[in-house]
Amino acid sequence: MPRHIGDVILDVKNISLSFGGVKALTDISFDVREHEVRAIIGPNGAGKSTLMNILSGLLEPTGGSVTLDGVDIVKDPRAVWSRLGYLPQDFGFYPSLNGAQMLDFLLRLKGVDAPQGRKKLVAELLERVNLTEAAKRKVKTYSGGMRQRLGIAQAIAGNPRLVIVDEPTAGLDPEERQRFYRILAELGRDRIVLLSTHIVEDIATLCPRFAVIRGGRCVTSGSTSEARNRLEERVAEGIVTPEKLEEIRRSHRVTQAVLVEGSMFRTRVQGAPGSQPTSFVQVPPTLEDVYFGVMDESRADDAAHAMNAA
Ligand SMILES: Nc1ncnc2c1ncn2[C@@H]1O[C@H](COP(=O)(O)OP(=O)(O)OP(=O)(O)O)[C@@H](O)[C@H]1O
Ligand SMILES: [Mg+2]
Repeated sequence: MPRHIGDVILDVKNISLSFGGVKALTDISFDVREHEVRAIIGPNGAGKSTLMNILSGLLEPTGGSVTLDGVDIVKDPRAVWSRLGYLPQDFGFYPSLNGAQMLDFLLRLKGVDAPQGRKKLVAELLERVNLTEAAKRKVKTYSGGMRQRLGIAQAIAGNPRLVIVDEPTAGLDPEERQRFYRILAELGRDRIVLLSTHIVEDIATLCPRFAVIRGGRCVTSGSTSEARNRLEERVAEGIVTPEKLEEIRRSHRVTQAVLVEGSMFRTRVQGAPGSQPTSFVQVPPTLEDVYFGVMDESRADDAAHAMNAA
């Protein structure tokens, strides 16, 4: 059956998982639609890698379901492995192989079909991730960005329907991050991509939809541009002393305070239009504002629950 933009390809419903009685994921639900690059954002320990491992069929959830093109990943992981490419957070390479040898080895391991011959496929994949010139260099001489591009080359081998990349840009410089995201954007033209990150701003243009997880729970999900638009006229910024910052904290919702010029804080607040502290100016909301606002609300909810439980 032909697929169209908007068709749900990956459907994640109420996924939960406990490690030895400790809940790592609770009731996570979202979907990824045809041609979409979807982002999962969350801080360290939120549960992103755990979720990615479940979606790759490597970990079995305690509850919930995941389907790829209607096939149940949880019940039958082998049925989807050939249609799935995965770049885990800690992807291991053999450092003394060169890029082409490493990729060739990984393709054999995955059992990827290469009707055009494996050598040709390796060359095509390296070309796709801009590593042709580095094909003969040992992987141990690669920069972090080059390694990640080699990792994506193995993930897209065999033309999988779904490519999962777990924090692929951590530690990469801005230029290398942009290069990597360009590759992901291209991939989204003929498959779906699920990307986890804690670098929020990067995904603002790449991903039309996002989901934020914190403490194993989905705290918000939806359209990135709508989430930003909802904050229109509600974000203001000013540069203040530490004393002033403390005063502002008592009357406003401070979502970011970054030390600048040695002892001053560039401070961002969120609140009703026109309610900003004097000397603050209204600024266009960013996805980072969305993220920090949501995290702040979620922490406040936790604190309220803890108080009620006490
Ligand atoms: N095998 C395991 N056994 C027990 N606990 C685990 C295991 N794997 C993960 N956890 C716990 O589950 C939670 C989520 O971990 P996870 O690695 O999925 O987070 P993450 O969002 O990927 O973090 P990071 O941004 O640091 O990569 C953490 O509290 C972690 O300690
Ligand atoms: Mg992780």
